Amino acid sequence: MSVTLSDFFKELPQKSTQLFREFIWILESKHQINPADLLSGRIQLSLQQKVLLKDWVEKRDDDYPLQYFLGQVEFFDLEFYVEPGVLIPRLETEEIARWSVDFIKDNNLKIKSILDIGAGSGCLGLSVAKVLDESLERLTLIEPHIDARKSLSKNIKIHGDKRVELVVDTFETAVFDKKFDLILSNPPYISVGDEEVQKGVYKHEPHEALYAGAAPITLISQWVQKAHKLLNKNSLMVFEMGYSQRDALEKELEEFRPQFLKDSFGKDRFFYILN
Ligand SMILES: C[S@@+](CC[C@H](N)C(=O)[O-])C[C@H]1O[C@@H](n2cnc3c(N)ncnc32)[C@H](O)[C@@H]1O
Repeated sequence: MSVTLSDFFKELPQKSTQLFREFIWILESKHQINPADLLSGRIQLSLQQKVLLKDWVEKRDDDYPLQYFLGQVEFFDLEFYVEPGVLIPRLETEEIARWSVDFIKDNNLKIKSILDIGAGSGCLGLSVAKVLDESLERLTLIEPHIDARKSLSKNIKIHGDKRVELVVDTFETAVFDKKFDLILSNPPYISVGDEEVQKGVYKHEPHEALYAGAAPITLISQWVQKAHKLLNKNSLMVFEMGYSQRDALEKELEEFRPQFLKDSFGKDRFFYILN
């Protein structure tokens, strides 16, 4: 059985221009089909193609993230594998990676060890480690959630080497026998019930990566306090945060003298602490 484009996608352009564009793109790039050939009836879709494309459209119509379909996302010049269960790396987080590398170089910090807390796909730790490659002796990635670790393990294979250690534990309970020169974290920092979370994010991305219960400031503060004890002298800690959390964190973390930075959209997005 086969169908024509008009059978299959009669309503698509009305539904969403974005969806229609994606459909054309996937026909060309994934199935090597010229949409014009399909429209004119010169080519017809096979049943298998129809099933795949239908699944794509239904899921995308339900705000299923494009990145999960593609299975990858670019982050700081590297391709990271992502599947459902892991947070899709964000542009803001990439800014933290880039900023950290620049800061380390500008200030001539010697980074031999890195800890990435809540590693998810591993995008932060693995990408920064790649740039600081020569001086680096160890990269520790901590991720307690099994679904996230499916993507993380693949990314460690692709971008890591024997210097990478994966800790399967929560940061609260993990025990470390060594300190670090650089600690990076994009913690879960959204309050449960926050209505600004986009529909697709809420429906399809892992809640343990997004939500920090009712009190995100408390979680961030506890992580910073523990992380600070794990930081060597002349070392750096960089955390991502929610754009409305600056005032509360400034008070809560006063003793550590955090410096706050904005992302390229002009929103308070991360802070760093020097030891
Ligand atoms: C906001 S995501 C960040 C993922 C990745 N670092 C990134 O920037 O895309 C937070 C990550 O922290 C992990 N996480 C949640 N609770 C944690 C805990 N108690 N200890 C360590 N990691 C935790 C989640 O599974 C998730 O992968």
